[in-house]
Amino acid sequence: MIQGKWFPQGADLNEAAAVRRAVFGRGEDPLDGEAQNVVVYSDDTPAASGRLWWRDGSFWIGDIGVLPDFRGRKLGDLTLRLLLFKAQNHYAREVRLRTPEETEGFFARLGFREDLEKGDAAEMFLPGDEIQLDSCKSCKKADCPNRKD
Ligand SMILES: CC(C)(COP(=O)(O)OP(=O)(O)OC[C@H]1O[C@@H](n2cnc3c(N)ncnc32)[C@H](O)[C@@H]1OP(=O)(O)O)[C@@H](O)C(=O)NCCC(=O)NCCS
Repeated sequence: MIQGKWFPQGADLNEAAAVRRAVFGRGEDPLDGEAQNVVVYSDDTPAASGRLWWRDGSFWIGDIGVLPDFRGRKLGDLTLRLLLFKAQNHYAREVRLRTPEETEGFFARLGFREDLEKGDAAEMFLPGDEIQLDSCKSCKKADCPNRKD
């Protein structure tokens, strides 16, 4: 069973930090004092995590990581959607993130685009009113029984 669980500021972040450490080589840090962490579990295993925080008028997403053995099963996508859902529920004006070039496409799938004004190809943003969590809308599967158009 796949489940997501939120860890607000001040919560025990052992499981979120363990995933972050395994993927990025670093665990808890001062930003966790301002961030909401989410962990996605595959059965009882913490398999993916990410975090969301607010700064200078924008929500920021960071450190989305999936343990290598669990990649390619949509857990990264679920983690990103959970973070966007939380941002949307907080009436986010925009959501921003920094990412290496090789994962820009992962975020572009959900509408994130490079902030060229920043002159920094690695910073991406998504206006809050463009958050689209309905995965059917972007799916190209022509013979899906749920397809309405
Ligand atoms: C990037 C990462 C989070 C993806 O997680 P994942 O669980 O393997 O990916 P998913 O199975 O959820 O993939 C969902 C979709 O995104 C696509 N995708 C995955 N990684 C991608 C990438 N690097 N670039 C473009 N698209 C990507 C998949 O092909 C899939 O597409 P589909 O829906 O058309 O089939 C994971 O590979 C990871 O932890 N990488 C190391 C950490 C990292 O780079 N984090 C991101 C920057 S903070």
